[in-house]
Amino acid sequence: MFHSEIIGSGMYVPPGIITNHDLSKMMETSHDWIVQRSGIEERRWVTPDMVTTDLALHACEEAIKNAGIDKQEIDCLLFATISPDHDFPGSGCFLQPKLGLTGIPAIDVRQQCSGFVYAMSMADAFIKSGQYKTILIVGAEVHSKGLDKTTRGRDTAVLFGDGAGAIVMRRKEVKDPAKDSFIYSTHLFAEGQGAKDLWLEAPGMALGAERMNHEMIDAGKHYAYMNGKRVFTNAIRRMCECTLLALETNKLKLEDIDLFLFHQANMRINQMVAQELKIPEDKVFNTIQKYGNTTAATIPIGMAEAVKAGKLKKGSLVASAAFGSGFTWASSIFRW
Ligand code: UT7
Repeated sequence: MFHSEIIGSGMYVPPGIITNHDLSKMMETSHDWIVQRSGIEERRWVTPDMVTTDLALHACEEAIKNAGIDKQEIDCLLFATISPDHDFPGSGCFLQPKLGLTGIPAIDVRQQCSGFVYAMSMADAFIKSGQYKTILIVGAEVHSKGLDKTTRGRDTAVLFGDGAGAIVMRRKEVKDPAKDSFIYSTHLFAEGQGAKDLWLEAPGMALGAERMNHEMIDAGKHYAYMNGKRVFTNAIRRMCECTLLALETNKLKLEDIDLFLFHQANMRINQMVAQELKIPEDKVFNTIQKYGNTTAATIPIGMAEAVKAGKLKKGSLVASAAFGSGFTWASSIFRW
């Protein structure tokens, strides 16, 4: 049977740094509140001329370069995002020509903060089935254009940032399962009962005849709503559960893992997961201080940054887990 291996990673964040102090000039908030409640010190925002596929393009180019492949070898493109350039077609279709590719399938994955791990799972299944051999996966978000930057929206506006991360996954013939680099497992979950605990209501076909009207805009229904406490407690519970399940499936112990790459929604969530699972702090790689929550881009940004920081090396055994809107959650164990 075929397996799949990650052969290159890349990332891109826009240069515009927005500090907590910058936000406190737009809304009633403070650096101390944001750091204490979330661990975030700054995030990146795009300029108005930039769109999600622009960020994705830079991340993909770096991933392709680091993978050492000719981009024409890519036979499938998976794009995880909740901030598409347009409602339709999917962002993969806008990215494909920017990458100079044509003909290959371009599939959007709509699983929010779990989107990248979902896309890795799909790529792994495509490769194992023999359908595709070299898959480019990108997670990219432009949140800054969709945030309510007034005091009304401060509970979410301070958390999210813009960015992109990408990897190339390729077919691998595994000779030594204990040493070779490949994706050991992926586990995917959803619980739609929590859909409205973190959602963007409008525009929507469910909203009568119009999809969107002035009253909805006045009420801020075109901004994300989040039941922060419910999301917070579920994130801890589900990320612990799916990490333990991944370990158990692979008959691994926590000590066998070299690096934990968790979704970055709130530093306190990751600290509590680490505490609950008894993971030493230096094995958890966090980027939230610098970038905030970049949703589908978070996990691949973490991969690319961990490589650059020398924390993720050839042969490292990695456990990754994410939780987000849907509710959706997912985990993966892979050897880098
Ligand atoms: O990617 C997955 C999705 N996201 C998450 O996983 C995020 C999950 N949730 C969270 O991270 C946390 O719930 C938040 C960071 C959003 C909020 O932290 P909290 O400790 O749950 O705060 P809270 O919602 O209980 O709010 C405490 C107070 C409130 O004031 P009152 O009612 O006590 O007077 C809020 O109005 O803090 C106020 N508040 C703020 N104050 C300053 C809310 N947002 C802000 C803010 N600045 N930005």
